[in-house]
Amino acid sequence: MFDPKHTCLVVVGAQWGDEGKGKLVDVLAERADHVVRYQGGANAGHTVDLGATSFVLHQIPSGILHERTTCLIGNGVVLDPEQLFAEIDEVKAKGVKVDGRLFISDRAHLVLPYHKLLDRAAEASQQIGTTGRGIGPTYEAKTGRRGLRVADLRDLSRARALLTEAVARANQTLELLGVADRVSLDEHVKLLERLAPKLLPVATDTGRIVFRALKEGKRVLLEGAQGALLDVDHGTYPFVTSSNTTAGGACTGAGIGPTYIDGVLGVVKAYTTRVGNGPLPTEADTENEERLRKLGHEFGATTGRPRRCGWFDAMVVRYSVRVNGLTGLAVTKLDVLDTFAEIPVGVSYTGADGKPCEGMPADVETLGQVKPVYERLPGWQKDTSAARKLADLPPAARAYLDRLQDLSEAPIRYVSVGTRRDQIIEV
Ligand code: IMP
Ligand code: MG
Repeated sequence: MFDPKHTCLVVVGAQWGDEGKGKLVDVLAERADHVVRYQGGANAGHTVDLGATSFVLHQIPSGILHERTTCLIGNGVVLDPEQLFAEIDEVKAKGVKVDGRLFISDRAHLVLPYHKLLDRAAEASQQIGTTGRGIGPTYEAKTGRRGLRVADLRDLSRARALLTEAVARANQTLELLGVADRVSLDEHVKLLERLAPKLLPVATDTGRIVFRALKEGKRVLLEGAQGALLDVDHGTYPFVTSSNTTAGGACTGAGIGPTYIDGVLGVVKAYTTRVGNGPLPTEADTENEERLRKLGHEFGATTGRPRRCGWFDAMVVRYSVRVNGLTGLAVTKLDVLDTFAEIPVGVSYTGADGKPCEGMPADVETLGQVKPVYERLPGWQKDTSAARKLADLPPAARAYLDRLQDLSEAPIRYVSVGTRRDQIIEV
């Protein structure tokens, strides 16, 4: 999708996350100069399979696996610094050069141990099914105007003052939530003292780097995390994450305006999955769900939880086309459907009142009651994993993709037929 007129691309998840963004970013990063993560944090798990080795990246942009690219963690990310350094060590141990290639926004907010404790404590009553990585409490502090940012590490006495307030507040909240654990100011101060000399040398205004690169005609890939239906505004609230996972988040989270963006690629699975609680209208019956989970290895890359599985939901993807302004789709994991004789596709919803739903219901109670209307498309019952162009696919697989494209109202640009880097069709 990169060409001289399209130098700034966004890749987003167009369902509930885990669509295979890591793989698409890896494929596109080969042609990019910069890859930027712009929201979310260590809740993400982006799997990249190189054949001989595979990587699960949580905070480092997936572009790190291409030596030529510079990777940036933007201001919209909530950064868990301890996790980041553990991840850096892991990729370095696998032979990836990181020094001089990874920079972090000095405006990014820090996820600290007390955020993770608060996340887990809140789960006992809210039951969102979070990843427990402290994401919600850190964004809460950010919008509450009391967060700690990377830039605060430049003045540790100031950071200490912010921490004193934050730790006292965290302990009050823990008490309110009826949790016995308490957090220690001393431990947090020591942690920041330890992290500052490691973080500050790579902390900078990453938005400026992106802006300058675009001015010079370089190619920038903005890598989203999670998916549209987990967006705090557009997702299945309250069963969402705490950031804007849709393409608008790429602007605020990377520090460039919308006029710089030339295209938005939405990654969708050829079916649907979701991890965590909340409605999933096209969830399959137990037998098919287990079959999809087994064939698609549908277990969380961050938490190991089994993913809930169901059929392609065109209502979801059409909605995603709108809220993201998708200019193209990448359909992943087509090969997972290879053995099915017939494949249901959700084309619309019927509400509890028996009438068709015009759009995505705003509340999860209504969405939880809709009945998907299915079309049953013939399966192809042939192995597609070796296909490298559309013509290599069985006619029924091509008809399946054509139908997804028509229903979604966005052109398919990529089809992925396996986890490996080379198992991709460019349309
Ligand atoms: P949180 O982001 O940890 O607060 O979790 C909120 C919701 O988003 C839960 O349903 C999680 O399972 C889901 N979630 C968060 N990150 C991911 C992801 O990277 N892939 C899929 N689901 C995610
Ligand atoms: Mg994932």
